[in-house]
Amino acid sequence: MLFSITNPFVFTVFGASGDLAKLKIFPTLYELMLQNRFPKEFYIVGFSRTKLTQSAFRKIFKESVEKKFGKDVNTKVLNALIKHVYYFSGQYTQIEDFIAFRLFLEKTTKKRKIEHIAYFSVPPVVFKDIVRNLGETRRSKKDDIRLIIEKPFGEDKKSAEELYHFVSQYFTEKQVYLLDHYLGKTSVQSILHLRRSNRILSHMLHGSEIANIQITAFEDIGVGDRIGYFEQVGTVRDMIQSHLLQILALITMNIPNHLDAESVQREKHAVLSAIDCPCDSENIVLGQYKHYSDKKGVSKTTRTETFAAVRLFLDQEDWYKVPIYLRTGKKLHEKHTYVVVELKKFPFQPKHEEPNRLIIELQPDERIHITLVNLHEDVQQQQEITTTDSIACSIEGCLPDHGTLLLEVIKGERLHFLSFHEIISAWTVVDQITSLSQKNKLRLHRYEHGSMGPKAQHTLPKKDGFSWYDIH
Ligand code: BG6
Repeated sequence: MLFSITNPFVFTVFGASGDLAKLKIFPTLYELMLQNRFPKEFYIVGFSRTKLTQSAFRKIFKESVEKKFGKDVNTKVLNALIKHVYYFSGQYTQIEDFIAFRLFLEKTTKKRKIEHIAYFSVPPVVFKDIVRNLGETRRSKKDDIRLIIEKPFGEDKKSAEELYHFVSQYFTEKQVYLLDHYLGKTSVQSILHLRRSNRILSHMLHGSEIANIQITAFEDIGVGDRIGYFEQVGTVRDMIQSHLLQILALITMNIPNHLDAESVQREKHAVLSAIDCPCDSENIVLGQYKHYSDKKGVSKTTRTETFAAVRLFLDQEDWYKVPIYLRTGKKLHEKHTYVVVELKKFPFQPKHEEPNRLIIELQPDERIHITLVNLHEDVQQQQEITTTDSIACSIEGCLPDHGTLLLEVIKGERLHFLSFHEIISAWTVVDQITSLSQKNKLRLHRYEHGSMGPKAQHTLPKKDGFSWYDIH
């Protein structure tokens, strides 16, 4: 049976007039409504600086859902949802506005004690103001409020630590949910569940059996309207810091006995803190798609990378000397996220023979393939065994990434959220890469739209006698 929320709640979206809210959050709320996941009483409150009337905001909300679902929108459901949508305009820096906001919530909810979930969909510069004002205007520390903070958490290790200590002055660790939407993808969640339930995979995913691991996250879209944000981060911070390193952790972590958040986060952290990045120009390839700098607001000499490939190792006995290659980029030939695990060959196998591969496709297809080789005089086969069913959610009532995560917050669970320690370890790796890039020690390779990225990426696996395994 599908989980439905029974207790009333308030869901505040800070940054409600921004892109993330319109593209992801409002359509997700609609999908939750469509699936009857909401209780009778709930309040969705948009908070942003833009001066808007409630009906203007409802219109924006409605349009964002209609834009996403087109003709398939269930108007009855959408209209019913809209009745639960409210708007409050305020300055993030003004404590008076947060006092007024508290009174607004009390009035709207008729002063009932209701769980409050605050979702941050704001640029990092205003983040602290909201946390402080929200913290200082609470009636009591016991107020049930949960903060959902989307990655990137900070912009480097130092700022992430500062931010964490800042948030800790006002809220307890239990009230803070650090979100990476990749952990909300059921295909990504399946990595752990498949590994936990199938001995066959645990044997294959043992470091001593593996020749190399390749993690690819290609996107066909460019930076779009998010250029302001992207210019400050670049692909390494935007994609590798959390999404790719989380996938890496899920693939290589030890499987804990208990499937609770603490155990899983502890094991992922063990991997992330063991990453050994020989971070230099031999092990990192950065790229930028052609005409990126033609965008309005971008300097002609910008060195922001839109493609990155990295060669890493894990400083752990089982994984000693197993190279791990990560690559990700925008404006490439297709949208495709997948993991290729190449198993070692027998010492007597000839060089030209293909290795066994375990391939986990995460999106848009969500399948597992295992390649088998059968070559002798009479048989010349290299076959692929492929799961016919999707490894992602396939039951009725599948939810988008943010939907599964929002329900988890409401349940008070955090299995698919990040721990602060994981974030810090990931930044430790990423800081090494970005500091080299800031010192201009890394070449920026230009690449064509619709290509597979800069050719220089091939030098990374080639160092170890391997090559990227491309799936189309
Ligand atoms: C976001 C990044 O976290 O993930 C974007 O900020 C990127 O730049 C997006 O496009 C990719 O997510 P998905 O779910 O489309 O693979």
